[in-house]
Amino acid sequence: MTTLPQTLRWSAGELYLLDQTKLPLEVIEEKQESVEQVWDSIKQLKVRGAPAIGVAGAYGLLVAIREKTAMNLKDYSQEVEKKAAYLDTARPTAVNLKWALNRMLNSTKTFSGNGSRGLYKHLEEEAIRIHEEDVQLCLKMGINAVLLIKEGMGVLTHCNAGALATTGIGTATAPMYLAHQNGVQFRVYADETRPLLQGARLTSWELNKAGLDVTLLTDNMAAHIMSQGLIDMVITGTDRVAANGDVANKIGTHGLAILAKHFGIPFYVACPYSTIDLNTAEGSEIVIEERKAEEVTHFGLRRTAPEEIKVCNPAFDVTPNELVTGLITEKGIIRAPFGENLRKEYL
Ligand code: MRU
Repeated sequence: MTTLPQTLRWSAGELYLLDQTKLPLEVIEEKQESVEQVWDSIKQLKVRGAPAIGVAGAYGLLVAIREKTAMNLKDYSQEVEKKAAYLDTARPTAVNLKWALNRMLNSTKTFSGNGSRGLYKHLEEEAIRIHEEDVQLCLKMGINAVLLIKEGMGVLTHCNAGALATTGIGTATAPMYLAHQNGVQFRVYADETRPLLQGARLTSWELNKAGLDVTLLTDNMAAHIMSQGLIDMVITGTDRVAANGDVANKIGTHGLAILAKHFGIPFYVACPYSTIDLNTAEGSEIVIEERKAEEVTHFGLRRTAPEEIKVCNPAFDVTPNELVTGLITEKGIIRAPFGENLRKEYL
């Protein structure tokens, strides 16, 4: 497979993030010097996408504690907890951040070795495991869903649930990359994804670079191209799947799911287990991140709305489970009844 963009890397105790706010015009890696910088990179969407912020959070915790190993073990463990709680506040909707930080905290609790330096090494191993596991989860989702994509199909996706949203071949894009590798000819339609243009800047960039046939459209064109018979399937990613199968994803996903139902088009959502949150009973309990008004009142740096206009800017919405055809997971494709089937697989 063509080399895909590397979202982040951990090298010699340093965290490097590909600054996604600059893509596709500039491909620049940024070294993370402090935990505050990592927090800010997550908040500003320099690193974004649920699985990627989980991995970045785990490494970010190492950045927070790497220079504090002179502390005694008890104080050091408390420092780990404090910094994990801080990093968790960067973004509320994607459960992967909390999931990865909880894994790091559990690893702290089960540490039976000696000294703070030992604990740091132990946590570094856990962060690397989280990272390597993410790569494998993407591959498994791809393998489990590759046969959904058939010759001549049009597949619509929203936002970026690609390599850039993970550390592997993406979630929604995983079956696309594998189908392409298998020589299947199909077209991908990428929603632009207002206001931050993840579809235009990121999805169309990475798929195009990898040689897939990708067509960019603005979000308000989806109904029209569906009505023209160009779309055979929708695949999106998700930031959190509730226990009943309701799915939070980038704002606009719910609308697409309603359209897909209207046109009789299957609507799939790809998610590793790290995105499935059985502690959240249903979608209405998921905290939806509200972002700053400038993302809507401006296009790039240029103001496109009147001064002092009231703005709403929820970054995500919740698609009710009845609109979801199937959840593409590392264990296979999970279908309704979602509550029962998710419990069977993940409890
Ligand atoms: O605000 P973003 O760019 O982090 O939103 C990302 C999405 O909505 C993705 O679809 C989701 O995180 C799944 S990524 C595999």
